Amino acid sequence: MHLQLVPWLAAATLCATLCSSSTLGTTSEADKIASLPGQPKVSFGQYAGYVTVDEKQQRALFYYFAEAEADPASKPLVLWLNGGPGCSSIGAGAFCEHGPFKPSGDVLLKNDYSWNKEANMLYLESPAGVGFSYSVNTSYYSSVDDKMTARDNLAFLRNWFEKFPEYKERDLFITGESYAGHYVPQLALLIVQSKLFNLKGIAIGNPLLEFNTDFNSRAEFFWSHGLISDATYESFNTMCNYSQIRRQAQSGTLTPVCSRVNSEANRQISKFIDTYDVTLDVCLSTVSSQSAVLNKLQQTEKIDVCVEDKTLKYLNRKEVQEALHARLVGISSWTVCSYVLKYEYQNLEIPTISILGELVKSGIQVLVYSGDQDSAIPLLGTRTLVNNLAKQLGLNTTVPYRVWFEESQVAGWTQVYGDKLSYATIRGASHEAPFSQPERSLVLFSSFLGGRPLPEGLMSESAVETNKIIGDQS
Ligand SMILES: *[C@@H]1O[C@H](CO)[C@@H](O)[C@H](O)[C@H]1NC(C)=O
Ligand SMILES: *[C@@H]1O[C@H](CO)[C@@H](O)[C@H](O)[C@H]1NC(C)=O
Ligand SMILES: *[C@@H]1O[C@H](CO)[C@@H](O)[C@H](O)[C@H]1NC(C)=O
Repeated sequence: MHLQLVPWLAAATLCATLCSSSTLGTTSEADKIASLPGQPKVSFGQYAGYVTVDEKQQRALFYYFAEAEADPASKPLVLWLNGGPGCSSIGAGAFCEHGPFKPSGDVLLKNDYSWNKEANMLYLESPAGVGFSYSVNTSYYSSVDDKMTARDNLAFLRNWFEKFPEYKERDLFITGESYAGHYVPQLALLIVQSKLFNLKGIAIGNPLLEFNTDFNSRAEFFWSHGLISDATYESFNTMCNYSQIRRQAQSGTLTPVCSRVNSEANRQISKFIDTYDVTLDVCLSTVSSQSAVLNKLQQTEKIDVCVEDKTLKYLNRKEVQEALHARLVGISSWTVCSYVLKYEYQNLEIPTISILGELVKSGIQVLVYSGDQDSAIPLLGTRTLVNNLAKQLGLNTTVPYRVWFEESQVAGWTQVYGDKLSYATIRGASHEAPFSQPERSLVLFSSFLGGRPLPEGLMSESAVETNKIIGDQS
C-alpha cells in the first residue's frame, strides 16, 4: 500500500459548494447506517456522519463508528487515526486494516480479525480536507499544522460525545500509525491537560517519533534486508543520509550528492518492492497500469495486496456515500490521501517521543509497536527511541526482550519498561501492520486493551529443549 507519509501533492483549485446544514442533529440516530452496499448481515451498530468542529467556518470532520460485535456496553471506546499527514483513517484503517469489512469487487467481505471484536471502533478522517472531512472556508487548507489538527480532534471528541453520551464515561484508548505518531500523543496530551474523558492509554504503530532517528534508520534496514549494496549503504553513512534527503526533498532543494545517493538506492530497491513491507508482493496494477492482468494470475495470496484500489472504488460509489451520510464538499472524488490539504511539512521535525514520556508520567498506558517489514519507519529507529526514553525516565525493564506468540508461532518480540511503557514488534508485518498480519495484530490489540502481557506461548520447557537440539543439528 502506498498511503502513509505521502509526498507533497499539489493543492487543487476548489470551489466551495453549498453545505449549509453542517449540523445533522445532535443525536446518533441520524447517523445510524442501515446497511452498507454489499455488506453481509451483521448484528452490531454502525454509524457515520459529520461532527462540526467550527460552526463559523463550517468545518466538519467525518467519522465511521463500528460498535463492538458483542456486548458493546462492556467494551472500551477506541479512536483510530491514520497518518500521512493527509490520509484517511476510514480508507486505510477501517477498510484496509482492521475494520469489520474489506471491499472485494461489488461486495464487502467480513474481516475475521476486525478490531471491533474487542472494542467500539471510532475511525476519524482528520484534519479537515482529508477524505469526506471538509472546511467550507477553503483557506483553512492552505496551511494546516499539528496544533490545529490536535485542537480539531479534541473538538471532534467533545462534540461526538454529545451525540453518543453513553460513551462519555467509557474507557478511552487512542490508537494510530505512521504520522499518527504525531496526532495520537498530541491529542492525548491535550486530553490529559484538560482532564477530559476517561483516557486509559495510547498505542501507535510504526510511528514518526523523531525525524533524524526514524528516517536515518531506513538505510540500515534496506542494507540488512539485502535491498541495497554495501557500497550504497556506505554512501548513506558518508555522503548523504535519509534525514537529509527527506529534509531537502520537502523544501525542494535536493543537492546533487543526495540526489545521486537517493537515485542509486531507489534503482537497487526497484519500484516492484513495496517499501511499506519489503517482503510482501506489490499490487501490480498500482505499480504499473499494464500489469492488471498479471495480478489476476497471482491471486493465491491470503493478503489482498490490492485492497486499497478496491477501497478507492468502493468509497466513490454514490450509493456507498449515501449509506455513509457522506458528501463531497469542494472535491470531485474521495481519495485515500488528500489532494487539497497543504500540511505544514516542517512539523515532521517536531519530536513527539518526549510527549510519550509525559503521558507515561501522567499514568497513561503507552504501547509503541513496529511491523518489522516496514522500511518507511523501520523498527530499528523506533526501538532505539523507546529504549532511550525508558532510560531517560529511569524506568527499569520489567519484561526483558522476549518473543511473544500468536497460536503456536512467534508473532514478534516485546520489552516492557516499568508498568506503563511497552514496545513490541509484529513479525512479518507491514507499515500498516493489521493489513498484512491481521491475526497477530488483533492479539496485540487485545492484550493492550486488557492490560495483559503478550502471550508467552504454549510450548513446554521440554518442547523448547527439543526444538533447540533440532535447531543446532540443522
Ligand atoms: C477563512 O479562513 C482564513 C484562514 O483560516 C481566515 O483568515 C479568514 O478570515 C476566513 N474567512 C472568512 C470569511 O471567515
Ligand atoms: C546525517 O547527515 C548530517 C549531515 O552530514 C549529519 O549532521 C548527521 O549527523 C547525519 N546523521 C546520522 C544519523 O548519521
Ligand atoms: C531500578 O533498578 C535499580 C537497580 O536494581 C533500583 O535501584 C531502582 O530503584 C529501580 N527503579 C525503579 C523505578 O524501580
